[in-house]
Formats: sequence, C-alpha cells, structure tokens
Amino acid sequence: MNKNETIKKGTINMKKLTALFLSLAMVLSLAACGTNASNETSAAPESTGNTEEPSSQPETEGEAGGTLVVYYSATGNTEQVANYIANITGGDLFELEPVEPYTSDDLDWTNDNSRVSQEYYDESLRDVELVADTVENWDSYDTIFIGYPIWWGIAAWPTDGFVEANDFTGKTVIPFCTSSSSGLGESGQLLAELAGTGDWQEGMRFRSSASEADVQEWLDSLNLS
Ligand SMILES: Cc1cc2nc3c(=O)[nH]c(=O)nc-3n(C[C@H](O)[C@H](O)[C@H](O)COP(=O)(O)O)c2cc1C
Repeated sequence: MNKNETIKKGTINMKKLTALFLSLAMVLSLAACGTNASNETSAAPESTGNTEEPSSQPETEGEAGGTLVVYYSATGNTEQVANYIANITGGDLFELEPVEPYTSDDLDWTNDNSRVSQEYYDESLRDVELVADTVENWDSYDTIFIGYPIWWGIAAWPTDGFVEANDFTGKTVIPFCTSSSSGLGESGQLLAELAGTGDWQEGMRFRSSASEADVQEWLDSLNLS
C-alpha cells in the first residue's frame, strides 16, 4: 500500500466517521424534538384546563359573586342612596314594600297616636307584612347591602321581616342608613342578631340628602372586589 492509498483509505474512514457522527447527531436532535413534543403534549391538559376555565367561570359567576342592594325607604332618602350604590357597584335593587304602605300621617312621629308612634311604643305591632321578603336567585348574590331609615335610633322595622326571612350564610352583609342626625348606632348589630347568619360589616350612616360622591367615597373605602 502506497502513501496515496493510505490517504484515500484515511479519507474514506474520515467520511464514514463524519456520516456516523451526523446520523448520530440527527438521531439525538430528533429525540430532543420528541422530548419537546412530548412536553407540549403534557402541557395540553393544563391548557385544556385553562380553556375550560373561561367557560366554567361565567357559570361560577352566575352562581355567586353578585351584589344585591336591598332597602326600605319611607320618604325616598334611603332609596336615593340605594340607587347610588346599585349604580356604582352594578348591583341589583330590591325594594322592601309594606303591604300597607306608610302614609305621611302614619309617619308623624310627633303624634303619639300615629301608626309609627304606636308601633314604637308597642313592639308587638312592628311585624310589618311585606309584599315580598325573599329575592329570586338569592344564591347568585354574595354581597348584600341593606338600607333603611333610622327610626328612634334603630333600623326602621319594615326591614326586620326581610332579615328574618333570609339565610345570609356565606354572604357579606353591609348595612347602610339615612337619618336626620343620629348615627348608625346599634342598628346594624341588631339586624345581624336578628338574622343570625352572614358576615355583617360595620356599615355606614348617610345624611338624608347624601350625594353620589358621598356614597362613592364610602364604597371606595370598602375595597370591594
Ligand atoms: C318615625 C320616624 C322616626 C325617626 N327617627 C329618627 C331618629 O331617631 N334619628 C334621626 O336622626 N332621624 C330620625 N328620623 C328621620 C329619618 O331617619 C330620615 O328622614 C331618613 O332620611 C328618612 O329616610 P327615608 O326617606 O328613606 O324614609 C325619623 C323619621 C321618622 C319618620
């Protein structure tokens, strides 16, 4: 074997080695691709989970997460605040209406013989029948605002029937009231005791002619989601 032949054979061997190396590299890179592909496959269930989430989320929101603004208002002041709350939070409104509405004579607290005075003096007369004391889709609400005027330092009693008739378990309950000068006092606490369920918050008293800005400021301070 001469020198040229040796070089040729060496070249052939080098070519074979290079080919071997290249095929090995290809096999390895394909294997790597396979690994990536299998990673993507294993990520798919998570992403299926993710794609399932948006479709299940609205259902969840349909089941809970809503805001309800319940109120009793004899002369419109509390109703105004309730409207502001519903407007700002996007909540639904539910007005408590006595089957026998209070006339202005009924509300004359300066007259000892007026309906409201008689009810004040005799607690057994405060069981005011409501047109409706339960709300459709109650389960869809997890935040309940409850509004009322202050009567003799406490919540106007037409509110009581609603509080007694409903189960507030799992709900955040936020009382609010309007009054000429009295504070919230124990009105919220007394309603919470009457309800016996729910996570009752401290609540807020508004002046009779509260503005939307007053209500907005309060709602902002609550940091509701
Ligand atoms: C029977 C009665 C009792 C009231 N008692 C109080 C009271 O104790 N303290 C107070 O500051 N305002 C009192 N007020 C005034 C109301 O709380 C106030 O005008 C309230 O904004 C009325 O709300 P409404 O318009 O939603 O009914 C009383 C009003 C009535 C009719």
